[in-house]
Amino acid sequence: MAFLDKHKAIETHATLLMVLAFLVVTIGGAVQILPLFYLENTIEKVDGMRPYTPLELAGRDIYIREGCYVCHSQMIRPMRDEGVRYGHYSLAAESMYDHPFQWGSKRTGPDLARVGGRYSDEWHQDHFTYAKAVVPESVMPPYGFLFNKVIDGKYIADVMATHRMVGVPYTDAMMENALADFLAQADPNADSSGLQERYGSAAIKGGKDVNVRNFDGQPQLTEADALIAYIQVLGTMVDFSTFTPDPAR
Ligand code: HEC
Repeated sequence: MAFLDKHKAIETHATLLMVLAFLVVTIGGAVQILPLFYLENTIEKVDGMRPYTPLELAGRDIYIREGCYVCHSQMIRPMRDEGVRYGHYSLAAESMYDHPFQWGSKRTGPDLARVGGRYSDEWHQDHFTYAKAVVPESVMPPYGFLFNKVIDGKYIADVMATHRMVGVPYTDAMMENALADFLAQADPNADSSGLQERYGSAAIKGGKDVNVRNFDGQPQLTEADALIAYIQVLGTMVDFSTFTPDPAR
């Protein structure tokens, strides 16, 4: 067949094959990559998203320090079984203030993208102290030491400044009140109106009020407070009873 004969010419000349293969890959690559340069934004805006509060941000740092991401992902894939088990698939906007993001691909434990509000603080206290006490077959290591590590928020304004540098929209008011907000969130007796004013439903379109409680159940402010505050907000910022995806995307 004439056509196959011509193709033989390509297959038997290494240089010609390389040149043609290079051309094909270049065109294919350009078709995929070039349109991305003309998109203003690849993240759809979603109501309710806000930067983490100082205490939640500190908890997130503890999450990263302890390597929780080694066993837990934070991205619900858009597949039916994932939706049934974990809830609505993760939106890009939901991790836009995460630096670095915690998507992950390893799931020794379940995905945590929507674990906020699923269990009580007491459940988390027991679970972090000794996971097997609440889930007998669990292989999650104990983290009881977090309940003994008192924190004072000394560096929280610096951590927030770093996040601001990479694009998290912490306002000047949020920066100035970093330490006050840090302390107020874990103290139900403190005046948390400033915290709500900056991060709560009045400040954020479609947003909710910040959880203010004694997260670790102890009088002193510890790393467990910060970690539980962080865990309890995961996946709860966007209201999926009113959310509709933008059909233009
Ligand atoms: C060695 C792997 C491993 C590490 C490291 C680990 N976990 Fe887990 N985690 C698990 C497993 C397995 C489960 C499921 C059984 C259970 O609930 O204990 C789990 C369950 C959980 C749950 C309950 C999730 C649900 O939907 O039921 C939370 C919350 C959690 N882990 C948080 C953390 C945090 C925070 C850290 C870091 C401080 C961490 N885990 C570190 C393995 C791990």
